[in-house]
Amino acid sequence: MSAEQKRKRTPNGSSSPILVTGGAGFIGSNFVLEWFAAGNGPVINLDKLTYAGNPENLASIANLPGYTFVRGDICDAEMLKNLLERYRPRAIVHFAAESHVDRSILGPEAFLRTNIDGTFTLLRAAKVYLESLDENDRADFRFLHVSTDEVYGTLAPEDPAFHEQTPYAPNSPYAASKAASDHLVRAWVHTYNLPAIITNCSNNYGPYQFPEKLIPLMIANARRGKPLPVYGDGQQVRDWLYVADHCRALMSVLERGRIGETYNVGGCNQRTNLEVVTTLCTLLDELLPESEFRPHKQLLTYVADRPGHDRRYAINAEKLQRELDWSPQESFETGLRKTVEWYLANTEWVDRITSGAYQHWVEQNYGSREAVSARSAQ
Ligand code: NAD
Ligand code: TYD
Repeated sequence: MSAEQKRKRTPNGSSSPILVTGGAGFIGSNFVLEWFAAGNGPVINLDKLTYAGNPENLASIANLPGYTFVRGDICDAEMLKNLLERYRPRAIVHFAAESHVDRSILGPEAFLRTNIDGTFTLLRAAKVYLESLDENDRADFRFLHVSTDEVYGTLAPEDPAFHEQTPYAPNSPYAASKAASDHLVRAWVHTYNLPAIITNCSNNYGPYQFPEKLIPLMIANARRGKPLPVYGDGQQVRDWLYVADHCRALMSVLERGRIGETYNVGGCNQRTNLEVVTTLCTLLDELLPESEFRPHKQLLTYVADRPGHDRRYAINAEKLQRELDWSPQESFETGLRKTVEWYLANTEWVDRITSGAYQHWVEQNYGSREAVSARSAQ
């Protein structure tokens, strides 16, 4: 391998940019921040800035010479062509998506458009761009598709965790649209030799997560003394991973992952939703000793279940650990404490995004879900 090739394969010090899609969202912005913190090369961040995209997340690196923000839609083929020709990235890390299951139930159209058509448009543009590269740059190029464990469907309590060969069985419009996008990526690898890799990750939590998702929603509501809406019986299980651990996994896969492979990413932290919410309440009791809403558990409210609600997700991440020596650095306890502390230290960030359109969403999703009972968890 030439010195030039080595330089490009190693993110540290590389002058070739990577193109990140959806970098103003929750995981994307954490990834971009981690990328710069690790001293890696330039980033082009392409984001449409839907309700979920927030450039404020990236304020700390926005003026760095290596950072470029482009507002645009991954469904716009002409824009993608021009962007790739202009910036000539050495990789595409594809986060951009509609990502919230409840929104996909109330309005699936945007999910099919962005997650399926958008990924298709991006793959087509990447293929044409790849063909324009010289042999060395083509050998270095990677397309990293960031996906979810929800494509595998749901597990019974005693089932083994999802592994890379688990058949796809998506149950929500969100999961179906992500499954379709994974299949498109796979087809582009096999048919057109696109050097792509897919990751399927479990539920993330951490700073900058939009407060429509379980953990930040519960923190935001508890702080304001609002009900904490637990769907159904609260016994659904999710496998929680701290977002920075996911970002580190993605960087390892980008650098050293094998083309055409899938890597499952997960935290080995299975918790019922009820456990998550009660743990959050205990943390909030400790961190907000003056709160008039203590004990926060009294706010817990059971509401109508999500239609088609998957009962359990769990990830077997052994392949990633074995091949790329990755393992999560945060336990659920340390990660959750960091997360609550971050949200309490950044109440203005939450307050700014929970005004306006957010209120409309809350009314749409929770307005018709009358409290089934308002009993405390224990
Ligand atoms: P998010 O909703 O917080 O962010 C999505 C970002 O994509 C936003 O910045 C939004 O503006 C942008 N976007 C949406 N449509 C776009 C379009 N048409 N063109 C360009 N940009 C567009 O999502 P997230 O939680 O950060 O998830 C990122 C990716 O990771 C998604 O692909 C999701 O499926 C996957 N994932 C998420 C989780 C999780 O727990 N959040 C777990 C596993 C995988
Ligand atoms: P969510 O954060 O929406 O992630 P996902 O649906 O991708 O797993 O939800 C996590 C779990 O929390 C899921 O089982 C649904 C449940 N949940 C509630 O009980 N109440 C809520 O208000 C929300 C948003 C989620």
